[in-house]
Amino acid sequence: MKGVILAGGLGTRLYPLTHVTNKHLLPIYDKPMIFYPIETLVKAGITEVLLVTSGPHVGHFLGVLKNGKELGLKHLEYAYQEKPDGGIADALSLAESFADGQSLAVILGDNTTDSDISEDVKNFKEGALIFLKKVEDPKRFGVAVFDEKDKSKVIAIEEKPQNPKSDMAVTGLYLYDSKVFDIIHSIRPSDRGELEITDVNNTYINEGQLRWAELKGFWSDAGTFDSLAAANYYWAKKGGK
Ligand code: G1P
Repeated sequence: MKGVILAGGLGTRLYPLTHVTNKHLLPIYDKPMIFYPIETLVKAGITEVLLVTSGPHVGHFLGVLKNGKELGLKHLEYAYQEKPDGGIADALSLAESFADGQSLAVILGDNTTDSDISEDVKNFKEGALIFLKKVEDPKRFGVAVFDEKDKSKVIAIEEKPQNPKSDMAVTGLYLYDSKVFDIIHSIRPSDRGELEITDVNNTYINEGQLRWAELKGFWSDAGTFDSLAAANYYWAKKGGK
């Protein structure tokens, strides 16, 4: 399986920090944010990675990551998303030729976790696998809707709902088979003008092809001041490196 890290966008929720550099290069305790998703992939045995980025500071990545060898990658490619606000699924569409028919582990560049997804990666065959995590503020995330009768069955995902139907957030960690690109080509931009990863996941659900697993251990995104601070606090307490 190959890996894709989505590290674009303007990081407007973190202005003025993101006037300095790309959000994913900001520090989380003792290293740049982007090191964490790379380490999650490497720990799961994924060493061929495409990093999709955009925005005014794209050049900064090369100086930090170079060819990825220092972080345990065998192959690191970069792709440039022309519209930084095109959405997560738009960024992922740039990975089509890199994937070359293989399945992908996709991770958002601002997600940090100490969970080990090796077994899920090893056992993955087809469709989509999403990772859910219980959160206190589900309104901020994509949220799973469960079947009333079969509580283990996800019947839909709602993106940032006003009235969340559960407290299980969709984390920014997904496994997809190669059908993901046909699905991305079939969806239309949402009201906020983005190609939504939630629409991709809902298509897999409608085709009966989506499974989910609960992400164990710590997980946080870091796209707001509060979540960035929480992630820093967790990793600092854990001791770094
Ligand atoms: C994105 C996704 C959302 C997901 C979240 C996880 O939201 O759209 O479904 O729950 O990442 O970090 P964003 O933080 O880009 O607004």
